[in-house]
Amino acid sequence: MFVPASINDYRQLAKKRLPRQIFDLIDGGALDEVTLTANRADFQALRIRQRVLRDVSNLKTETRVLGQTMKVPVILAPIGLAGLAGRRGEAQGARAAEKAGVPFCLSTVSICSLEEIRQATNAPFWFQLYMMRDRGYVREMLQRAHVAGCGALLFTVDLAVLGPRYRDVRNGLTQGVSLGGKVALAWDSLRHFGWIRDVALGGRPLSFGNLAGVFPEAKSIGDVKKWVDSQFDPSFSWKDLAWVRENWSGPIVLKGILDPDDARAAADFGADGIVVSNHGGRQLDGAPSTISALPGIVDAVGDRLEVLIDGGIRGGQDVVKALALGARACLIGRAWMYGMAARGEQGITSVLHILKREIEITMALAGVACIEELKPDCLIPRN
Ligand SMILES: Cc1cc2nc3c(=O)[nH]c(=O)nc-3n(C[C@H](O)[C@H](O)[C@H](O)COP(=O)(O)O)c2cc1C
Repeated sequence: MFVPASINDYRQLAKKRLPRQIFDLIDGGALDEVTLTANRADFQALRIRQRVLRDVSNLKTETRVLGQTMKVPVILAPIGLAGLAGRRGEAQGARAAEKAGVPFCLSTVSICSLEEIRQATNAPFWFQLYMMRDRGYVREMLQRAHVAGCGALLFTVDLAVLGPRYRDVRNGLTQGVSLGGKVALAWDSLRHFGWIRDVALGGRPLSFGNLAGVFPEAKSIGDVKKWVDSQFDPSFSWKDLAWVRENWSGPIVLKGILDPDDARAAADFGADGIVVSNHGGRQLDGAPSTISALPGIVDAVGDRLEVLIDGGIRGGQDVVKALALGARACLIGRAWMYGMAARGEQGITSVLHILKREIEITMALAGVACIEELKPDCLIPRN
């Protein structure tokens, strides 16, 4: 039996377990996937200083973000339709996060509703918001998030319109395919009987839990995309942010900041935090990788709000590098999806365990005993 050792091993297993359409929906990025690739490559290009004889017998990975203690500086990122990769997928994510002592963030466009996640976990979770034209509905959703005890609001700002994801086009997810294409896709799905039994049949209803009442019946992901294009509000701008503050009393984090000027605007607005993010390379292809954008943003606003980061994190070393460059914590998106698609909730737990172990080992070999000691001089400057 194959024993997955790394998060990349979980990705390989997920590729086998999921129909190609679903795997690519998770794994893919926008256009030529230049930014998706850069998110990984730029992490890998960073070198860590090896330091010795520094007493690392008492390693601590605990940290605080937005007033909340977490055992490891990692948060499960909001993933729309996560329940397509595992039965009631968001509930699995929330339970695994609670066990590992880290926050889980629920997407607006999740399959499980806020109320279902409240039932699934005793830990406070976070809620991610997409701004929709129907402000009355958004206000109601924020009230529901408050009642569900959500400890922070991640307002995603990098999706004025949906990025073009060509793997989804090629797989016939967003527009029609020929008869031959349909047969090939149906055959591919049938070959993944475990997924059909566990998710397609066992995971129903496969609809947007938070949007019941406003979302019309969708027959395909193409219908979902059309609905998103018509309902998400691309006119929303900095001057409208006060509306979010009026309707949410807890911490507000703007997710999808990639430029120091926008980071300053977020701090001027009074955001409690930002996530340096390019939506995992799924939106503006050609935008910089998040790890390359991080130092400029930390310089600009690091003393005014909490800076989080996501994009391309596939191991504990990436977390260590991001924290050394000034991030408070990292969100992981695809990593938890790969774990879940491969081995369910146990797979997510295992992914979180791998991250923790790799963070500890990296810290020890870099001569760092606690998170606060991670500084830029833990890395070797690039020429
Ligand atoms: C399949 C998928 C769905 C996503 N859905 C959402 C979403 O609903 N809301 C959101 O703010 N970000 C969403 N994201 C972006 C993630 O929250 C996160 O920014 C990104 O996955 C980080 O990159 P990584 O996957 O390389 O870790 C999604 C990402 C993926 C891969």
